[in-house]
Amino acid sequence: MSAVEPEVRNDHDALVASARAHLMRTYPDTDLAFVAGHGSWLVDTAGEEWLDLLSGISVTALGHAHPAVARAVADQAARLVHTSNLFLTAPAVELAGRLAGLAGFADGRVFFAQCGATANEAAIKLARRHGKQQHPDKVRIVTLSGGFHGRTLATLEATGQPAKHAPFAPLAGFVDTVPHDDPAALRAAVGADTCAVLLEVVQGEGGVRPLSPAMLAAAREACDTHGALLIADEVQTGVGRTGTWFAFQQTDVTPDVVTLAKALGNGLPIGACLAHGAAADVFRPGDHATTFGGNPVTAAAALAVLDTIEQEGILADVATRAAQLRMGLADVAARTGGAVREVRGSGLLLGVVLDAPIADDVVAHCRSERVIINAVAPDVLRLAPPLTLTAAEADRALDVLGRAIVAARADRTETA
Ligand SMILES: Cc1ncc(COP(=O)(O)O)c(C=O)c1O
Repeated sequence: MSAVEPEVRNDHDALVASARAHLMRTYPDTDLAFVAGHGSWLVDTAGEEWLDLLSGISVTALGHAHPAVARAVADQAARLVHTSNLFLTAPAVELAGRLAGLAGFADGRVFFAQCGATANEAAIKLARRHGKQQHPDKVRIVTLSGGFHGRTLATLEATGQPAKHAPFAPLAGFVDTVPHDDPAALRAAVGADTCAVLLEVVQGEGGVRPLSPAMLAAAREACDTHGALLIADEVQTGVGRTGTWFAFQQTDVTPDVVTLAKALGNGLPIGACLAHGAAADVFRPGDHATTFGGNPVTAAAALAVLDTIEQEGILADVATRAAQLRMGLADVAARTGGAVREVRGSGLLLGVVLDAPIADDVVAHCRSERVIINAVAPDVLRLAPPLTLTAAEADRALDVLGRAIVAARADRTETA
């Protein structure tokens, strides 16, 4: 049975042609279009079902078209969609309190943004304002190589991937980037003019790479020594993806500022910059603002996400499903004589490190069986399935992925 109307199916070619004519070419060309989704599954224009192990890049953590989120959005949209931040609305206020509580920040305060980049922009501005309260030149930030923080100009500069800077250089020059696993270099880079260290506890786009405890401890210590803020970008890891509400909760380090987006609205565009301690009290009216931030529809969606995770005990499921995937991948490694070199990451953000740069080919083989994963490096696959992935869906994923890895390896041998 298909959820797709015949007219939509018949329009596939027109849709693709129109996209090619009218959308800017910021994203890779594709002719794959979806019209519906449910749980871990997407439905394409031909009515075929695809197993989604990417969740819209770590966004639809509760799966597609989750009824609690759909209901919250519909109810709130029917009542009140927007007021601006000149006025209060209950969903945003309630959400701010809930996020502070989940982070364990008794004096926590939240600024709502629309996405990860705008949450990080807020954090960077907050840190500069905080730094300038100490000294006018205390505005530099330290970030890590391989980090990813967004595509606005400030967050692009904070993104430790020089290839992404080149087309837009020169950038403002307020960022110092150090290797992602070099505590001594980090300590040396943080100084009197540093207002913040910005890092991901598990680097997502940079190859699903957990930071070492030594690196996190060095960051905390250097910030404390120099009066800088430690900002944890939990845009990809937050809201349960790693099995705790925030990834930092599995470490010995507590950041001053945490940024969120992606899974917070299960697909509705909402981001958050959450701070506690002195950092929570930096901004004054007029320092920072955005028209849509904390919009009641997106905030209602986020509240439904938090309620569902709590009520359905989803954090505990993350560990179970992650263990199943890791065991299956260990089996693939054994069967293929080491094609899978390592599985790294945390919870249901997994990086599958291959023994050859065949990740794109593996992705293509998976797609030929209607399973969606993506590659974050030539030799690293990312799995970020819905946190609600069932055991049977995980088995299906492992089956297809195992065969795709074998096939991609064979392709490589043939062309060698
Ligand atoms: C860790 C991290 N920070 C920030 C961003 C940027 O988020 P957005 O694309 O919502 O602006 C991303 C996006 O992938 C991310 O993974």
